[in-house]
Amino acid sequence: MRFSGKRAVVTGGASGIGRATALRLVEEGAEVWIGDIDEAGGQDVAATSNGRIHFLRTDVMNVEDIAALMAAADAAGGLDVVFNNAGAGGSRDPIGEISAEDWDRTQALLLRSVAMGIRYAAPLMIARGGGAIVNTASIAALQTGAAPTAYSVAKAGVLHLTTMAAADLSRYNIRVNAVCPGFITTNIFTAALSIDGDKRAMANDMIRGIAKHAQPMQRAGKPEDIAAAVAYLASDDASFVTGTHITVDGGMTIGPRHSWDADAPSMFTALQQFAS
Ligand code: NAI
Repeated sequence: MRFSGKRAVVTGGASGIGRATALRLVEEGAEVWIGDIDEAGGQDVAATSNGRIHFLRTDVMNVEDIAALMAAADAAGGLDVVFNNAGAGGSRDPIGEISAEDWDRTQALLLRSVAMGIRYAAPLMIARGGGAIVNTASIAALQTGAAPTAYSVAKAGVLHLTTMAAADLSRYNIRVNAVCPGFITTNIFTAALSIDGDKRAMANDMIRGIAKHAQPMQRAGKPEDIAAAVAYLASDDASFVTGTHITVDGGMTIGPRHSWDADAPSMFTALQQFAS
């Protein structure tokens, strides 16, 4: 019960990683305010929580919505934890083709939203004597090949924003960290391609099959895997941890595929075959 008597905000809490984290925080004693544009999903999560999760329609592209979400949790007794997590795939256009408008929209959704989440949480936490903020980055922040350019650059920005904010806010006893999920089976992929209805469930089954073999650990990554890391970073167990990130990716970023997949092509196996 690491969050007993604490209040937390989770953006993107209607689905996937945000939903799992909201449920985990509640399981550990918190009262949670989730902000999301998905009203049906948000109400659904709130309905399963015995009144411990409150849904507020929040578009993280809109600073007034973010401020209102933080204020709602604070008004109930003080804001202790913020998980800036809402997101989507953003523009998939290559750098040689993307428009300035699509670039800006993607950065606003994935990076400005996190900056404004910190911006509006910080004064409330300062007044309260401290708090913990966790931001969702991605393995796409660490390397190429995991996601489109605009998304990956925004997530890299989230990592540096995390360190800058941690440096700024440590003096107020506010810790700021990030989590870098690997391939986690959520609706983000079907949402990016506007696949919904029955087709969404089928596509998600297919994604889970692929996800099992996408990294050294031979199982699909789950939202709960990320929720556990976020709960650690947000809790007093991490009271001396700030300005850093935890990668939760089943080993996906360990190294080139042939280092963990005997069937993947490598120069040495090719040379061995050539030599024999
Ligand atoms: P998801 O699609 O299951 O959940 C994302 C939630 O954010 C949805 O409920 C959606 O309605 C909400 N959202 C989207 N735009 C919003 C807006 N403007 N305002 C408020 N809410 C909005 O996806 P998932 O995977 O749980 O994504 C959560 C975060 O994790 C995102 O930031 C994503 O970029 C990140 N991530 C996900 C990975 C994965 O493999 N699923 C890998 C690395 C990072």
